[in-house]
Amino acid sequence: MTMRIPEKGASEADLFAAMQDFRSGDLPWREGRVFGYTFDGGLAVEKVAKRAFSEFLTENALDPTVFPSLLRFENEIVSMAANHLRGDQDVVGNFSSGGTESIILAVKSARDHARVTHPEVKNPKMLLPVTAHAAFHKAAHYLGVEVLPLPVNKQTFKADMDAARELMNDDVILIVGSSPSYAHGVVDPIVELAALAKERGVWMHVDACIGGFLLPYFRKLGHEVPDFDFTVDGVSSISMDLHKYAYCPKGASVVLYRNSDLRKHQLFATSHWTGYTIVNTTIQSSKSGGPLAAAWAVLRFLGEEGYLDLTRRIKQTTDALVEGIEAIDGLRLLAQPEMSLISFVSDDVNLFQLADLMRERGWYVQPQLSFEDYPANIHLSVDPGNHGFEEPFLSALADAARAARANPKTDLPALAAQVSGFFGAMPPEAITEDVMAKMLGLAGVSGQGLPHEMAEVNTVLDSLPPSIRERLLTLFVNDLFVQSGD
Ligand SMILES: Cc1ncc(COP(=O)(O)O)c(C=O)c1O
Repeated sequence: MTMRIPEKGASEADLFAAMQDFRSGDLPWREGRVFGYTFDGGLAVEKVAKRAFSEFLTENALDPTVFPSLLRFENEIVSMAANHLRGDQDVVGNFSSGGTESIILAVKSARDHARVTHPEVKNPKMLLPVTAHAAFHKAAHYLGVEVLPLPVNKQTFKADMDAARELMNDDVILIVGSSPSYAHGVVDPIVELAALAKERGVWMHVDACIGGFLLPYFRKLGHEVPDFDFTVDGVSSISMDLHKYAYCPKGASVVLYRNSDLRKHQLFATSHWTGYTIVNTTIQSSKSGGPLAAAWAVLRFLGEEGYLDLTRRIKQTTDALVEGIEAIDGLRLLAQPEMSLISFVSDDVNLFQLADLMRERGWYVQPQLSFEDYPANIHLSVDPGNHGFEEPFLSALADAARAARANPKTDLPALAAQVSGFFGAMPPEAITEDVMAKMLGLAGVSGQGLPHEMAEVNTVLDSLPPSIRERLLTLFVNDLFVQSGD
């Protein structure tokens, strides 16, 4: 199937009707039933965000000298962010399109800084807790920095400091800690990691993409929050997303540096071409002013009072869910959440089946695969939109757990054994489109498009080593993004 640009344009009414129709299969995030992907600050916030976004949609943040309004938004956002993370006047930073971009920029800065401070290092490495976000692996891949995986404690899921000290070597130019980690919602020992970085004269990055904005409000409400920000000696840079718990529209994050001497390694300028002057703060060059304007407007619209209010709701909902999950027969928390991210496991119910059963009941929970000897689990990111839905969620979860226990998908363990036996030892390059089709066939998935029941697909992925999973996912998505049309 293919599609051409139509000869004649369509009416606005027809277009919007069609687009609305496309939405029918999307996650119903407005109804409090989704625990991931979206961060709902409420209708008033959405209205302000949309208005500011569309006002500055067309402006281009490529060149701050021609749109000084955008420079002003960015510097004021960075200033608010630096103060929020208890930085002094020397802290500088930039607005980026999201956590991944902020992280890539921080890793580039650390790498280029090390080229000056540690020119003897030919194969730079980053010491990275296994719980750190996947974006660091992307940064490593793009930037030629090797990942030195740092185990975490199997009870707390926080970076293991003894292992960190043992693993440190002269090639490590960057240490990373999360505040908190996405998968388990716990804060790494940032003070200790930063002290180690300082002692060894290397860069320390704190990934506060998901928690950097929210944790200071937890602290203001009197909850215990470990230090993770610029008050911690040795911290060089911090990434903090605004499109998560600051409720700004997507395309909004900041990357902050202790001083401009560190940040200058982030910038890119080239004059080796025949066109206009290029000096970029970010990976993107031309970029809409929309996300910047919307982020500035949302931060100032909500203010401290608005954020504290939303934070209270998040905390209440998280506490209720934690208590409720622990009370459900057969379910238990994997880690003790330090913010609003929950991960739980079960000893007698298949979690992938449970996630599908929740989807059937109209709730989205996120399955996370096992990795080495860290178990598969179900993740919930709690946001203010979930407030008030605790009771129906918990009763659906209890019901789904009962249903999974009463009618377990007995084919799943057999499928796992079959797949890992047949394909687990293959070199990733041997996994071709045909092999993938066979594997998916075993899981009962055939043809193109998105499978409805994910338990089989997750079981296949979970039973394979990471390099084969990566290969399979690449082939699958390579098939998903293809031409389509009526
Ligand atoms: C801790 C952490 N770091 C980085 C990211 C990546 O952010 P993004 O999806 O905006 O690129 C996330 C996303 O959830 C995250 O939780």
